[in-house]
Amino acid sequence: MEIRLKNITKRYGDSFGIEHFNLVIPNGSFTSFLGPSGCGKTTVLRMISGLEVPDSGEIFFGDKCVFSSEKKINIPAEKRNLGFVFQDFALWPHLSVFENVAFGLRAKKQTNNLKEQVGKALASVRLENYGERYPSQLSGGQQQRVAFARAVAGNPQCLLFDEPLSALDAVLREEMRSEIKILTKSMGITSVFVTHDQLEAMSMSDAVVIMNQGKIEQIGTPEEIYHTPATKFTADFIGKFNYISENEMFRPEAASFLPQEESIACKTKVISVQFLGNSYELGLDAGGRRWTVLSQTRYSANDEVAVYINRDKILSLN
Ligand SMILES: Nc1ncnc2c1ncn2[C@@H]1O[C@H](COP(=O)(O)OP(=O)(O)O)[C@@H](O)[C@H]1O
Ligand SMILES: [Mg+2]
Repeated sequence: MEIRLKNITKRYGDSFGIEHFNLVIPNGSFTSFLGPSGCGKTTVLRMISGLEVPDSGEIFFGDKCVFSSEKKINIPAEKRNLGFVFQDFALWPHLSVFENVAFGLRAKKQTNNLKEQVGKALASVRLENYGERYPSQLSGGQQQRVAFARAVAGNPQCLLFDEPLSALDAVLREEMRSEIKILTKSMGITSVFVTHDQLEAMSMSDAVVIMNQGKIEQIGTPEEIYHTPATKFTADFIGKFNYISENEMFRPEAASFLPQEESIACKTKVISVQFLGNSYELGLDAGGRRWTVLSQTRYSANDEVAVYINRDKILSLN
């Protein structure tokens, strides 16, 4: 289902506002909202869900208007047919896994074939044999899977995720990233994923919406956002960037240690060396600027190193 936000505004006091927010989330896509804490990601997600009411604007699900300030339309959250996955899982501790997944279906009185619906949702996350357990008897990853099963039970038109992986440890987080992506893609379900973690957004999404202080900075594929950031904010937020001048910069992988055609040579001094497994990350002093580059060989602190930067890979931003 395509989701369209037209001219949405929402204000909290004098300090924070979402102004004229326009966005199309294509049917079946996995779209992330990425931005620092407090930039308004959750607020926009909650407005899509119906848990928060915009001050003005319109929201469409496909051709259907679910919110319009002008036309006084506001379809309540429970009638928008969405699945929600939260950061803290929000499972009921006193209910079994089966009952946690059945909860929303019971609330919406969709109890025809309840066993089958819950069974199917649990099977999608490979927890079909865990129905009798309680949340406290599950690992963090299994709890997150139950939360996912609960969100997809009842066949929602769209899934909304609000930082669902932040509570997991690093290894599990990576595992769940690909699991969520595979699951949502195999279901063909439109997914909106809120995160402040750029790796998460870049690795999972078809499209990334970069947000800053209630506004959209840039919308693009992860590759577009990474290679052609439209603003300094995006450039700095996504990955590492090295400044050559006030508004010229390059990514660590654009530098090499061998003279190249069409490249700029710079004298630098090694400040720090970190072994990353497949390469070394060097911290360099380049005439007073601090750079990060990758190297296949180990250097030592205070080594003088010439760095060659491919001209084609230098970005100019204003
Ligand atoms: N119910 C509310 N009342 C007042 N201010 C709020 C409310 N919800 C969010 N805010 C404010 O709106 C801003 C954006 O919040 P939020 O959407 O939660 O950001 P994010 O999810 O990107 O961290 C913050 O400054 C927050 O304090
Ligand atoms: Mg949030």
